[in-house]
Amino acid sequence: MKSKKKLVIANWKMNPSSLEEAKNIFNFTKKTASLLKNTEVLLLPPSIYLQPLSKIDRPKNLFLGAQNSSAEEKGAFTGEISISMLKDLGIKFVLVGHSERRAMGEDNKTVNKKLQAVFEAGLIPVLCIGESVRDREGTHLEFLKEQIKNSITGLQKKYMVGMTIAYEPIWAIGKPYKEAMNPTDIHETVLFIKKSVGEFFGKDIASLIRVLYGAAVESQNAKEVIEYGNVEGFLVGHASLKKEEFPLILKAIDSVR
Ligand code: PGA
Repeated sequence: MKSKKKLVIANWKMNPSSLEEAKNIFNFTKKTASLLKNTEVLLLPPSIYLQPLSKIDRPKNLFLGAQNSSAEEKGAFTGEISISMLKDLGIKFVLVGHSERRAMGEDNKTVNKKLQAVFEAGLIPVLCIGESVRDREGTHLEFLKEQIKNSITGLQKKYMVGMTIAYEPIWAIGKPYKEAMNPTDIHETVLFIKKSVGEFFGKDIASLIRVLYGAAVESQNAKEVIEYGNVEGFLVGHASLKKEEFPLILKAIDSVR
């Protein structure tokens, strides 16, 4: 991926219910992606759809990735999918530490282990972070800093160059756009995230990381968030499944230079 371009990640979560529907969503996304000039799109379907979707032609700015992978190489881990299995299918991108995985028990230590494993296998992770509540005292900032620190600790500096972090305030995930975080708060939080990365890895690395925003991004707020939110793209959940909605988000982001 070219980091100059903006990035929209479509997180389908555990949707849709059939391969046929997955192909439909893939196809309308593909159609719009081929019209974009400044934006790359990374689709994260359920892993069972990765192989059939990878067989369909797609434009150069449309990529496929996994929503999760195991940190373990192989063995007795029922239901898990390994990084080598993804690699074997030609998949290069893996989401790590989404809040819905964390809610199922994934802690920062596991997230850290996954990041190490993904990098070492030569794949590209997208690290998700985000607080579940905000308060006036700013304890959510301390929470975020701890999350960042414990997720990236021990990673080699070379891996941190150009690393993508998706900031997703959990309290806004799955909500309608009116309940998304406002662009000013997003802007400030992104500065805070970069500052925190800078404390652990230095300012040079901090200036190179790419921060995306996710949670309640819809066509109505996409343009405003990209213009004023200080982010280089989005992680879109529910709206990425909608035929009318997702192309509008992609076009909105692409229209902002
Ligand atoms: P949402 O989900 O766009 O439905 O809020 C975002 C996410 O959880 O990745």
